[in-house]
Amino acid sequence: MPGIAVIGCQWGDEGKGKVIDFFAREAEIVARFNGGPNAGHTVLYQNQPVVFHQIPCGLLNPKTKGVIGSGCVLDIGVLGEEINSLRNLGVEIKDRLFIDYRVHLIFPYHKAIDQIREKKRAKIGTTGRGIGPAYEDKSARIGIRLGELKDWGEFESRLKKNIAFKNFYLMTVYDGEPLNEREIIEEVESELPNLLPLIADTSEIISSSLKRGERVLFEGAQGTLLDLNYGTYPYVTSSFTTVGAIPSGLGISPKAIKDVIGVAKAYTTRVGEGPFPTEIKEELGERLREVGKEFGATTGRPRRIGWLDLGIIRYAKRVNGFDKLFITKLDVLDEMPEILVADGYLTNDGEVEDFDPERVWELKPKYVKLKGWQESIKKAKKFSDLPKPAIDYLNFIAERTETEVIGISIGERREETIIKEGFNLFS
Ligand code: IMP
Repeated sequence: MPGIAVIGCQWGDEGKGKVIDFFAREAEIVARFNGGPNAGHTVLYQNQPVVFHQIPCGLLNPKTKGVIGSGCVLDIGVLGEEINSLRNLGVEIKDRLFIDYRVHLIFPYHKAIDQIREKKRAKIGTTGRGIGPAYEDKSARIGIRLGELKDWGEFESRLKKNIAFKNFYLMTVYDGEPLNEREIIEEVESELPNLLPLIADTSEIISSSLKRGERVLFEGAQGTLLDLNYGTYPYVTSSFTTVGAIPSGLGISPKAIKDVIGVAKAYTTRVGEGPFPTEIKEELGERLREVGKEFGATTGRPRRIGWLDLGIIRYAKRVNGFDKLFITKLDVLDEMPEILVADGYLTNDGEVEDFDPERVWELKPKYVKLKGWQESIKKAKKFSDLPKPAIDYLNFIAERTETEVIGISIGERREETIIKEGFNLFS
């Protein structure tokens, strides 16, 4: 059962899109198991950046199929736009994209509630895509699932009831504007021809594919510290981003996960509110933001920037059980004369090694200063082509997290990726 999971170690935006796109060449299926259009996986295709929000980014590989599993939430309008932009690039999704009938739908009222709460209630810094309110409806058992579209009459009457209820809520609780029922229904109706052929039982599709010995990549969205259980609650997303979410978000056996690759950026970023122990508040943060083009792929917001935090990787390793790391955007550090890495923390009552979400506000990073390499590494083809300080940096990460760095990314293009000699993802 060769299934490999690719999981973000930090607060999302680790560059998982590029890693998935790279490994998708070896996979028959790439499957999303969590989140929705809050994700923004950017991949360079024919020299153009393509941003995937809901469709698994492995689909750029012509032989790979894509699955959106039941653990995800789906915005029909965003999906339509994604399908069209892929078609414009000559990428066809017919018979290649399958969406589980159990996926819950995001409607305009979810987005309106998400956005009005950000203004009028405690700010989380959400993407405003309606993620939290859609998962809330799912848990409250009033959500509407994709498969219900097969019976339009029943679907329409349930949707009308929900719109009426949500309009009442928006107006009475938040003094907001009601949404137009007709417009919401017409938008869904106009997407029906696109949607109906995609509805499937993807638990069955992936399980039989695995039984045939086919290779499946599990594409994590967001990162470990945004997980609803294990992240920096309440500054998290509303789905489960860690490896435990794969069996339930796809309806497959946990035994299908043969290995897990943790993806971490060579430094740390976060969008939205919440604690961030290694955040760089000085000008240097702005410089890294500029070099690393650190602006949200979904909202365009500037990302907050910080040094690499090994306590976070150790925590992500514990929660997800990986021993292989993929380090992205190493080239962004090219011009740094020295690089700081947090290796453990000082707290009010002593030192701790691992990140601890419960005490996050009191964690003071203990920094180790490493020498920068101050030259471009973009042309390197193998690990041994890297300057010594860059190799030392990677070795330090591996040693202090007890992992093996199996790959690095040194630029946006697929070719700007180095895989450790002898490493083979599926064998
Ligand atoms: P939501 O998922 O839109 O509810 O946002 C909750 C938190 O997760 C906010 O801090 C967002 O910025 C963050 N977030 C959600 N999706 C992503 C992502 O794909 N990358 C990085 N941060 C994300």
